[in-house]
Amino acid sequence: MLGLKLQVASSLLLLGALVAQAKYIVPGARWRDTDGELVNAHAGNVVLDNSTSKFWLFGEYKVQGQVEGGGVSVYSSDDLATWTFHGLALEPIEGHRYISPSSIIQRPKVIYSEAAGQYHMWWHADNSSYGLLLQGLATSDKIEGPYSFVDATSPLGNWSQDFGMFTDYKDGRTYALYSNGDRAEGRDVYLTSYNEEVTALDEVVHRFDKYDLEAPTILQTEKSYYALMSHKTGYRPNNVVAFRADSLSGPWSQPWIVSPLNTRTFSSQSGFTLRIDGSVKTTYLYLGDQWDSNSLWESRYIWLPIAIDDDKKTLAVEWHDVYDLDVKTGEYKTVEGKEYLATDAITNGNAFKQEANFATGGVIATGIEGNDSTVTFSGIEGTGKPQWVSFYYQNTDDMGYGDQPGGSPDRIGGSWQLRRISSVVVNGNVENVETLYQRDTHKGIILSTPLQLTLEEGVNNTITVGGLFNGFTYKGADIDKLVVYPPEA
Ligand code: DGJ
Repeated sequence: MLGLKLQVASSLLLLGALVAQAKYIVPGARWRDTDGELVNAHAGNVVLDNSTSKFWLFGEYKVQGQVEGGGVSVYSSDDLATWTFHGLALEPIEGHRYISPSSIIQRPKVIYSEAAGQYHMWWHADNSSYGLLLQGLATSDKIEGPYSFVDATSPLGNWSQDFGMFTDYKDGRTYALYSNGDRAEGRDVYLTSYNEEVTALDEVVHRFDKYDLEAPTILQTEKSYYALMSHKTGYRPNNVVAFRADSLSGPWSQPWIVSPLNTRTFSSQSGFTLRIDGSVKTTYLYLGDQWDSNSLWESRYIWLPIAIDDDKKTLAVEWHDVYDLDVKTGEYKTVEGKEYLATDAITNGNAFKQEANFATGGVIATGIEGNDSTVTFSGIEGTGKPQWVSFYYQNTDDMGYGDQPGGSPDRIGGSWQLRRISSVVVNGNVENVETLYQRDTHKGIILSTPLQLTLEEGVNNTITVGGLFNGFTYKGADIDKLVVYPPEA
């Protein structure tokens, strides 16, 4: 009897542990791993591994103060939201011709090679001036590595820059996707099959000719292939496009933009797409990178569901501030939050509310600067537990600052200010200032960016938004509204 009770108690505990681990996916947030560190795996891929029944995330490991050559990191997860760090799967080697700490080791992708009985990692291998344009191969017997460097080669004598990989779920064949660089003779994206072992390229299946795109990925539905790619604007986001075809060799459709116009794909770049074969439905995720060129190691992730209508031959990336994905069933649902509009907030100092017909309440709080010109939202309901709060903002840095050259790509000779930084203070507690990065939007385009905040239980919380120095200005972006989400289960 005692044994049974213990068994029941321990299975309840186990259930408790599983429930406690259920996490939301929050695009653009600072994602933390199970050690509380930032998830640091950029422009890579996610593999559902049969032998471990886990998802494995590989990506570029970015080191603070060092732009490239950090190696390839690896994380595991049961739910695509809770990530455990397993260190570097591919470690840079001092003095190595292709994987030294000054080498370009970008866009790594891992797959299991059935024929070789090994895990294979491929990536864009280069020197720091992008002068080699090669593809690297490393192998391991275990998914988490360590991976041993095999070689870096030019694909069928060509150049290779941004690298992607795709396995056809119908016949198991794997393909490389790569842009062939920025030179006038390049500017294509190649789709090339591998040999059976996935140790060398076999044959070019299609060339996306002279579109001048990069960051390619392919997803497959029952009827179609969709190839997603970004334009080439360095680490600045732009409008990702997709092409559709019945067969990998084409004919491929004209490209179209996959997200609402002028959102620059919700401030992200494409990189990978994941198909989740759930027991109830098949869900496709866009795994994009939200680069931060001011500090690459702080770059974030924009992972979003993709809506596909194969009859209409359309695909669109859907925005959700916070969503709850069940990787077993493939279902996901939007988490509902409570809105607090700028129209009901109080502005202080030089901040003021200005008519804005595109804003949720018809006005937007603007003139936010430093800690004097702020906007305060009050009457906010909290739970005493950490909760996600989405800040809907407009950042019209394309208007320039006057004291600063350039301003944005929408300006002649413009550069790009990647973010304004706002301060966020809960209940006037200035000992605890959160930083909110607000990337450029176009005029009249509102995007949201999240922070996890702990509000007091009850309905009397305040949230004050001010401006912090970003290297040019103390101005914060204009605020449309806040949306406060329930705590994770
Ligand atoms: C954009 C590419 O997509 C990245 O992989 C990287 O090469 C950056 N350019 C460097 O500017």
